[in-house]
This record gives sequence, structure tokens and C-alpha cells, in this order.
Amino acid sequence: MMIYLAAVAALLLCSTVGCFQQRFSEHFVEFLLNNEERNEFALKSFKEYKHAGTFGGRVDRDDEEDSEKPISRHDPVIFVHGNQESALNFSATATGWNNQIEYFLSKGYSMAELHGLTHGQRNVTVALSNRFTCEVFRGVRRHIESVLHYTQSPKVDIISHSMGVTIARAAIIGGTLNFSDGVCHLGHSLASKVDTFLGIAGANYGVCYCAIQHLMGFEACSHDAFATGVCQVNGENDETMTAHAPLHCAAENVSCDNNYASILRQINERNEPCGDFTVSTWSKQDEILGGTNMAWGKKTSHIPNSDLTIEYGDLTHSEIKDLTSRHQHELVNMHAINVEVPRIRHATDTITAATTPLTAPRIVISLLSI
Ligand SMILES: *[C@@H]1O[C@H](CO)[C@@H](O)[C@H](O)[C@H]1NC(C)=O
Ligand SMILES: *[C@@H]1O[C@H](CO)[C@@H](O)[C@H](O)[C@H]1NC(C)=O
Ligand SMILES: *[C@@H]1O[C@H](CO)[C@@H](O)[C@H](O)[C@H]1NC(C)=O
Ligand SMILES: *[C@@H]1O[C@H](CO)[C@@H](O)[C@H](O)[C@H]1NC(C)=O
Repeated sequence: MMIYLAAVAALLLCSTVGCFQQRFSEHFVEFLLNNEERNEFALKSFKEYKHAGTFGGRVDRDDEEDSEKPISRHDPVIFVHGNQESALNFSATATGWNNQIEYFLSKGYSMAELHGLTHGQRNVTVALSNRFTCEVFRGVRRHIESVLHYTQSPKVDIISHSMGVTIARAAIIGGTLNFSDGVCHLGHSLASKVDTFLGIAGANYGVCYCAIQHLMGFEACSHDAFATGVCQVNGENDETMTAHAPLHCAAENVSCDNNYASILRQINERNEPCGDFTVSTWSKQDEILGGTNMAWGKKTSHIPNSDLTIEYGDLTHSEIKDLTSRHQHELVNMHAINVEVPRIRHATDTITAATTPLTAPRIVISLLSI
């Protein structure tokens, strides 16, 4: 125990809103150690990723007056990052959730209410070798359970990005999922404990890059990750079908019942909510998911049964996470965003049903610029 606690000290990051600790707080680590076996994943993340690898937990424990206060006044927010990313800013390609923390702190949240950990390697060069695993699904699930328990809050909010959208969805809906190398039992659904579920630039139906023949063999394009499969369009022969797959996969006007990643299909087919209010967001300038956001006729970032979808016009795959903190805060607190701000040029509340064949979103807001 002393080893953990000695390592907690310092590592403060300071900005205009003050300082926050770039690791779990001592108070939270003590809490996790009360059930070391169950919290193994979070403790491992804490130990393994010393710099910028975890955050969250009360820091005012020595203040007697404060320690009488409940830990949480807002629904605590749990942030789930994507492939080769980090809980906090670690490198130019793993910028973490620093912007969100600074913004939420400026709006009256405390670090006891903001939680995140690092899973996977924080190294962009190995991004194609990563896939979903039961260990990460279960580990993130237990982190969510531990935050609920720690804060004694009836509900949490989830903000997830990219691969983290699927990880968080799986962690919350629970049940049994079949990976190619074994079965993953997660337990009952946690959806009743989640208020807002925000999925930013997720790939719920695969990534069209995975329809490129020479990428199909990578773990990230497997059935345990983001395979999109190949469809025959306009009676093409096998050769042109494969060669044109990436293009057709991303097209707006193509639709087929394709054999996309088994793990994504199992999660989508459960057709269960992951919270009281589900929001999907994507961008037309996303260099990973493509400008159309399509995967064989489906908007890949559209979580089935979303209550709100937001399409941004001009943000990259990481900018849609890093530059929309204000909207993220509004969504978890108001279940809406304030679009009456100066830099927005265009907003509309309609979208044709044809572009969202599975379930038409109830509200769609298109933002060409933020
Ligand atoms: C993020 O971390 C990298 C590497 O430590 C650093 O170069 C960069 O300035 C940081 N970015 C911000 C916005 O602090
Ligand atoms: C990232 O992975 C590559 C390939 O394995 C390795 O050469 C490189 O040193 C790693 N970078 C970091 C920062 O760990
Ligand atoms: C998982 O695999 C088992 C057999 O190993 C099968 O009975 C079950 O239906 C599968 N579940 C899903 C969701 O595919
Ligand atoms: C989809 O639209 C594009 C551009 O309008 C067109 O070139 C292509 O042939 C269409 N594809 C199909 C399958 O209709």
C-alpha cells in the first residue's frame, strides 16, 4: 500500500483554472485498495501509466470541514478514451481529456467528479495492432462501478471517444460477448446507472479503411475490432468488388447487409440503451472515419437509438474530442446544446431517413462550424 501512496504525490498540472493532479488522488487509490482484486484494472492503469495515465478522486480529504461534504454534487463523469490515446495529455497524438477537465472545473466540478484511466498502448505506431479485449471491457466496467460506489451517486455520465465509444457501450450493457478467442461474461446492464451517454466519433459499424485489402489482416480490422466486410455493388465481379470496396463502403448511396465486425454486431444487435439520454456526434472532416461517416450505408458514429445526433462540419478525429468541451458539458447537464453562439453558421433539425436506415434519430443538429 505504501508503494501506491508514495507514488501519488505531486504531478500537478496547472492552468488558468488552477491545478489538477495527473493521477488518481490518494483518497481514491485508498478506496480502490479496499477491494484490490476487483479494482485490479484501475490499479494497474495507475501503476503502469505514471505520467498522465489516470485522474479522479477527492483531494481535500485532510480538510475536516470539506470531508463532511458529499463527494459528489454533479453526476460524476467518466471519460473513456480511444485507440492509442491516453487519459491525459501524453503526446501530440494522445491528448487525453485535459481540455474537458479544465472546462468542467471552470464550471464548478471537482476532481472527485471527473474520472478516467488509460487502457492500451499510448503509441500511434501500434494503433493497427489493437483490438477489443474482454480485459478492457471488464476493466472499464469495474471502473464505472467503482466510481458509482466511491461517489455514492445514483448515476454517472459517460463521455467516450472513438474506440472508447464501443468499450464504454460494452462495459455498460454487459451480458455475454463472443470474441474470436473466447467468451466474455460481463454481468447485468448498468444502463439504469447512466444518465447521459455521449459517444464522440465512434465506429459502431466498422471503419471503411478496413475494407482496404492490405489492412484487413491487422487486428484493428478484425472481427474483434472494426472490420466492415465487403459487399457486391451493381453486379461487380469479385476482383472489382474487392478493389472498389473502400470507396463503396464510404459512399452515401450504397447499402447492403454486410458482415461487419462480429463484436460490433453483437453489441448493436442487443439493441439496448446505454443510458437515459444517448448522444452520438461525428464530423465531416474526420480523417479516420471518413467525411461521409458511412460504413456500407450506415452512419458509423450513430449509436442505435440515439436521442440526439450532432454532425460537426470541420473538425478532425481528435479535434471533435478536444474542441467541443463546452458542448460536452452542456449535453451532460442539459441534455441539449446551446447553438445560439456566434461562430455557428448553420443549424438544421432535419435529416432524411435514408441516411440513417437503422433508426432515425429523434433530433439532428448539424453544425458546420463551432
Ligand atoms: C501535451 O503533451 C506533450 C508531450 O508532453 C507536450 O509537448 C504538449 O505541449 C502538451 N500539450 C498541451 C496542450 O499541454
Ligand atoms: C512506439 O512503438 C514503436 C514500434 O513498436 C517503437 O519503435 C517506439 O519506440 C514506440 N514509441 C514509444 C514512445 O513508446
Ligand atoms: C456465443 O457463442 C456461443 C457458442 O459458443 C453461442 O451459443 C452464443 O449464441 C453466441 N452468442 C452470441 C451473442 O453470438
Ligand atoms: C453513388 O453515387 C456516385 C456519385 O453520385 C456514383 O458515381 C455511383 O455510381 C453511385 N453508386 C451506386 C452504387 O449507385
